[in-house]
Amino acid sequence: MPEPEPFRIKMIEPLTLLSREERLKRIRSVGYNVFKLRARDVYIDMLTDSGTSAMSDLQWAKMLTTEQAYAGSTSFELLEESVADILGFPQFLPVHQGRAAENILFSLTVRDGDFVPNNMHFDTTYANVKHKGGTPVNLVVDEAYRPGQEGDFKGNMDISKLRDFIDETGSEKIPVIMLTVTNNTAGGQPVSMENIREVSEVAKEHDIPFFLDACRFAENSYFIKSREKGYENVPIRDIVREMFSYADGFTFSAKKDGLANIGGILGVRDLELHKKAVELGIVIEGFPTYGGMACRDLAAIAQGLREATDPEYLRYRHQQVKYLGDRLDDAGVPISKPVGGHAVFVDGKEFLPHIPQVQFPAQALTAELYVEGGIRGVELGTSAFGETDEDGNVIPATLEYMRMAIPRRVYTLTHLDYVADTVISLYHRRDDIKGLERTYAPKLLGHFMSEFKPL
Ligand code: F0G
Repeated sequence: MPEPEPFRIKMIEPLTLLSREERLKRIRSVGYNVFKLRARDVYIDMLTDSGTSAMSDLQWAKMLTTEQAYAGSTSFELLEESVADILGFPQFLPVHQGRAAENILFSLTVRDGDFVPNNMHFDTTYANVKHKGGTPVNLVVDEAYRPGQEGDFKGNMDISKLRDFIDETGSEKIPVIMLTVTNNTAGGQPVSMENIREVSEVAKEHDIPFFLDACRFAENSYFIKSREKGYENVPIRDIVREMFSYADGFTFSAKKDGLANIGGILGVRDLELHKKAVELGIVIEGFPTYGGMACRDLAAIAQGLREATDPEYLRYRHQQVKYLGDRLDDAGVPISKPVGGHAVFVDGKEFLPHIPQVQFPAQALTAELYVEGGIRGVELGTSAFGETDEDGNVIPATLEYMRMAIPRRVYTLTHLDYVADTVISLYHRRDDIKGLERTYAPKLLGHFMSEFKPL
């Protein structure tokens, strides 16, 4: 059993479990796309760990005691102190969420025909690179594509793939190299410090700026401490500072390891680029001391960054995710191994081998999990990352996951036991689950709005 939670509950939100009949009705009415369900019709919501954290009493206190000002709020100063203390960045631009930081960064750097390598792009980074006329390229280590294979740092960039790619493409066509910590798309798998350092060295050799997609930097730092030789006795905060010290900049969604419900940061060391980011930020986000947020949101992030890097909190967080993963693994449910930092990823291909990928097995599993127990996961497979050819045929994604993300500090172990029991009972009747046909999909980020019907 994991150790007890390092907090207690001060405020509660009631949950309702609709009947199976109602759940079936709901999922049919939304075209088997759980993004279109009403949150109140969901019992355990594991759609995302983004913006769904429970905030602490101190976060709420700081939110209440900051003034709401267009310019120069105290909350901006608090955030400045946290970003300097914790991430070691002298200047930054607050933005309303991670993808806004991506939009500004890529607007200023990516030109038509450019390429942006990453270990693995998440959906919004992918879409933002494409939106600016660039091509996102995933150069993760091969182990990332083998869900059942254990490994300490399956999120790493493959350094020789990166070198070859730069040689073939030419550094003038690569405006920025990104590294996503942890690697969400491949199961929330961590990136080692050694790999971060190596990627930064390759980038420097070729004079290409190196940026972290730092959404889950704190969870990544916990993995470095517990798995990487030489870091066992290094304090988390020092690990975090070292991770960021290699980067020329970072994009960050404070909705993850900022423990906030909204917010993001674009950190840039280069003063010229920072200035341009501020100017563009004013056009599309807001004045740089509020960045598209209410001032109180900045206060929540300032405090959240401190709490997210607290070693007690991180130990609890890791144990909770691992608890759910271990329960499923022990029952033979095929999951991404080892368990990542923010979610348990169920392998849709292995869970439903009778459903070909063009019939969206992970999407079918996601819909069925809602029907089975009112639990909302998310498909990260062919619907999210697949392509369509000129004739409209589905080209499957390499990985076919159904992700159950665990919001931070929200659910108890009893909730997770309920989730585990539900997934296991679904696994036992997996042969009844049928594939889906996609009836509608927009071009970019289609999975948010797409619709399906059962085959
Ligand atoms: N990068 C990564 C690795 C992410 O996981 C996300 C968001 C973003 C960028 C964009 O941040 O949502 O604040 O604009 N991931 C969420 C998820 C939505 O469910 O994994 P955002």
